[in-house]
Amino acid sequence: MYKSFFGFQQAPFDKGIDSSMLFQSEAYKEVLARLDYLKTTRGFGLITGDPGVGKTSTLRVFADSLNPSLYKVMYFPMSSGTTMDFYRGLAFSLGEQPKFRKVELFFQIQNAITDLYDKRRITPVFILDEMQSASAQFLHDLSIIFNFDMDKRNPFILILTGLPTLANRLALNQNRSLDQRLVTRFHFSPLTPDEVRDYIKHRFRHAGVSRNLINENAYEAISSSTGGYPRLVGNLVTQCLILTFQKQRDLIDEEIVFAASAEAGI
Ligand SMILES: Nc1ncnc2c1ncn2[C@@H]1O[C@H](COP(=O)(O)OP(=O)(O)O)[C@@H](O)[C@H]1O
Ligand SMILES: [Mg+2]
Repeated sequence: MYKSFFGFQQAPFDKGIDSSMLFQSEAYKEVLARLDYLKTTRGFGLITGDPGVGKTSTLRVFADSLNPSLYKVMYFPMSSGTTMDFYRGLAFSLGEQPKFRKVELFFQIQNAITDLYDKRRITPVFILDEMQSASAQFLHDLSIIFNFDMDKRNPFILILTGLPTLANRLALNQNRSLDQRLVTRFHFSPLTPDEVRDYIKHRFRHAGVSRNLINENAYEAISSSTGGYPRLVGNLVTQCLILTFQKQRDLIDEEIVFAASAEAGI
């Protein structure tokens, strides 16, 4: 196996990376700063970015950083299920037995949120991931459920996240009410070429290898063919390691990167 050949203790681009071990790119730091600000204002925040840029991983870091005696984090991947399933899930995660009718369910969710915030002094934090395909009706429902005392206060934090098209959807006329209530919005950009190099070294180091395994031209080729998206960088470099091992070489060069991108379809 390539891992023992190079001396890795685990696969360097293992998905299960501990959230405290994430690479701190400029975009990553910026997202966390925005979310920190959202902690003080509460209300709605928006984070968009292309697939594999690091949205979900960074939100996990934020969620893990919150003190559980002050915040209750609820994460909803929105790609599957109906909106009714989501409202029920929302009520359920707030400790309620979901009511059957939509209107009652909305009241129930609102009451559970105010109870949590006013009586128990815990801020509920909702993370709605993969929101790019949300319907206009659903976005409208959100602006109703999360409207407290005629929008005078925000006893919650709600982070909407998804592909860049989500920002366009929110800008449409019928979704303006939600759009105008966003406290912070951020577009997550990919790693710069320098960050790609540091990112790979960072992940190698955490997998137990500190020596250099990649030459300069190869770093450039990796950066340009992946566009700096961490998920693609991981797939490509893993493929490079496999090929380098098959050839029994000790350094990844440009030629290997090209062969690996063809195989990995990047
Ligand atoms: N800052 C980072 N440090 C380490 N790995 C990262 C980082 N950002 C992204 N990744 C890796 O890239 C992959 C894609 O990230 P993810 O957060 O799922 O992207 P998105 O949610 O934007 O599609 C994950 O496997 C993750 O491990
Ligand atoms: Mg994601």
